[in-house]
Amino acid sequence: MTGVKVAPSILTADFTRIKEEINSIQDAEWLHIDVMDGHFVPNITFGPKMVADIRKWTDQVLDVHLMIENPDQFIPEFAKAGADYITVHQEASVHLHRTVYMIKNLGLKAGVALNPATPVMALEHILPDLDLVLIMSVNPGFGGQSFIPASLKKIRWVRERALELGLTDLEIQVDGGVNLKTAPGIIKAGATILVAGSAVIGASDRAKAIAQLRYCGGN
Ligand code: DX5
Ligand code: ZN
Repeated sequence: MTGVKVAPSILTADFTRIKEEINSIQDAEWLHIDVMDGHFVPNITFGPKMVADIRKWTDQVLDVHLMIENPDQFIPEFAKAGADYITVHQEASVHLHRTVYMIKNLGLKAGVALNPATPVMALEHILPDLDLVLIMSVNPGFGGQSFIPASLKKIRWVRERALELGLTDLEIQVDGGVNLKTAPGIIKAGATILVAGSAVIGASDRAKAIAQLRYCGGN
């Protein structure tokens, strides 16, 4: 059993104890870092310094989810801070192709996220250029929201298109309301990475929560 990858989100962690919080989720291969600017989403978190500080404490894949307007302005700073993947929102990027190649030319992997109401076909002409697609299954901004079931169709579309185009390395990530109830359907639809905020950070045994999510698809 190899399972899917789990990327705990630190959004609901205690930021005054960030080192201990990160130590408690080392069983996960990835760490999902939610950056919010108070404009693109109705919440504010932190910037590149947090990523640079976290980079010193973990070898996990640092997966930076930029929920910010004008991402091009900050991508170089997040790259310098030690991000491995940078994901921008399709809705926040006017010249998405340029933005994706800005990330790749800095030597990082590039992802594009879609809000729940954004048609998945918006990715049709950029899919072969991507390392990761992020299907948002809640409206971004806060942890602890309920999974939007219509997201499953979008995951399936990306899965099928990736197969048709032979994009075997494309990661399909799902973010929002992922827990032991919703994860089996998400995995069945074709997700390769589960982002989990409250389902991991809110669990009394975080290592167990990560393992349960990883294997709940039965693979
Ligand atoms: C929401 C963030 C998520 C959030 C998920 O805007 O992008 O990464 O932390 O939290 P849960 O898993 O609690 O829905
Ligand atoms: Zn996120």
